[in-house]
Amino acid sequence: MENKRPVWTSKYAFIITAIGSAVGLGNIWRFPYIMGQNGGAIFLAVYLLLILTICFIPLINELYIGKLTKKECVGAYESINPKLKYIGMLNPITGILISAFYFIVGGWIIYYICQSLIHSQIKDYGEYFSALIQNPVYPSLLTLLFVFICVFFAARGVKKGIEAANKIFMPLFAVILIFLVIISLNLPNANLGLEYMFKPDFSKLNSHMVLAALGQAFFTLSIGMGALLTYGSYISEDKSLVKSVYTIILSDTTFALLAGIMIFPAVFSFNMQPNSGAGLVFVTLPKIFSQIPYGNYISLAFFVLLFCAAVTSGISIVEGPCASLTERFKISRIKACTILFLIISALAIPATLSFGILSSIKIFDKSIFDFLDYLTSNLMLPLNTLFLCLISGWYLKIKGQNFIKNKFLSFFFNIGLKYIVPAALISLIIVGLN
Ligand code: PFF
Repeated sequence: MENKRPVWTSKYAFIITAIGSAVGLGNIWRFPYIMGQNGGAIFLAVYLLLILTICFIPLINELYIGKLTKKECVGAYESINPKLKYIGMLNPITGILISAFYFIVGGWIIYYICQSLIHSQIKDYGEYFSALIQNPVYPSLLTLLFVFICVFFAARGVKKGIEAANKIFMPLFAVILIFLVIISLNLPNANLGLEYMFKPDFSKLNSHMVLAALGQAFFTLSIGMGALLTYGSYISEDKSLVKSVYTIILSDTTFALLAGIMIFPAVFSFNMQPNSGAGLVFVTLPKIFSQIPYGNYISLAFFVLLFCAAVTSGISIVEGPCASLTERFKISRIKACTILFLIISALAIPATLSFGILSSIKIFDKSIFDFLDYLTSNLMLPLNTLFLCLISGWYLKIKGQNFIKNKFLSFFFNIGLKYIVPAALISLIIVGLN
């Protein structure tokens, strides 16, 4: 058991791990399909604007509260005011609920990696994907495997597990992504995909899309479930936050853009639809891979890329609850991770089966999987962020001047924390409830 609280071995270790948390399925799987459903370039323009103006505020805030309190989520809230402990508990709970659906996608990715290795011939990719997710056995077993992998790295501790995994998976991710971008850009008519991404059609601008962009921005930056607060609590006193935050935001945005540049030219080059939703990377892309030379190898590279992204984010999702369990109950990481493995599996298995044998079970008209996604992404993440901004801005009266040198930026941080971000989050929650 680690008695002393761990600290990052270097600034690089912290930044690459935070980038690993941010860059995940949200960038490669969710971002392109939400962009595809919301009008392409105009969504991207709104998303970029929001990420560069509003999102840095809750991101700095969450890391700062971790750095300030040097505690895991529940302890951090409790040290601000003992009554806030219960609000703090929502963070690890959100993490556990997110993992229950996020890790299922991890299981599908492992399946596609195996399929690319076997070089199996598939006639109808839509049917193939439906058959996979409805199967009661493979997705459940692979989800368990994915949960195990994430929990395993978390159990090894901050240095030997979390940092080490990110130092391997993130560079591998970047290399594969650049390789696939080059291939995609060299396909015939690749420019159509680029036009779709970068030529905005202002007639498609609407409030629903703005909120979809905001929700996506919070999700991709991992704001709102205490993962960053926990990562922030491992930052030593002498390290400054602001530069790191901009590095995290810029890297996350660059990777999301590169994911789009990898996916849309390929989609347009093969005359396919960019708005096919969640199946974009599991149906449309494999169909494309099957039609290009060395497609199996490219498919393998793509799903390994997706796996790297999912594992590094998955580890960060587990780390929040893991730190809470170890520090509050004074148990070892191995024990905490075993408990988490059991809880996450108990939730994830019914969610996996909700595509097949449990499809008749509905919660508020949604399948278990969709309900978990909806509850966490649309309600719990924004709610947790709202609480933390209100606590910092109104109760702790945290001022940007404490850590931001630039006067304009720190002034903007102050009003953002108290008014703009809470207003944006309340709108997001209201739309989420409708
Ligand atoms: N940011 C991750 C992604 O884009 O896939 C998802 C995520 C990780 C959300 C960690 C929340 C979190 F705390």
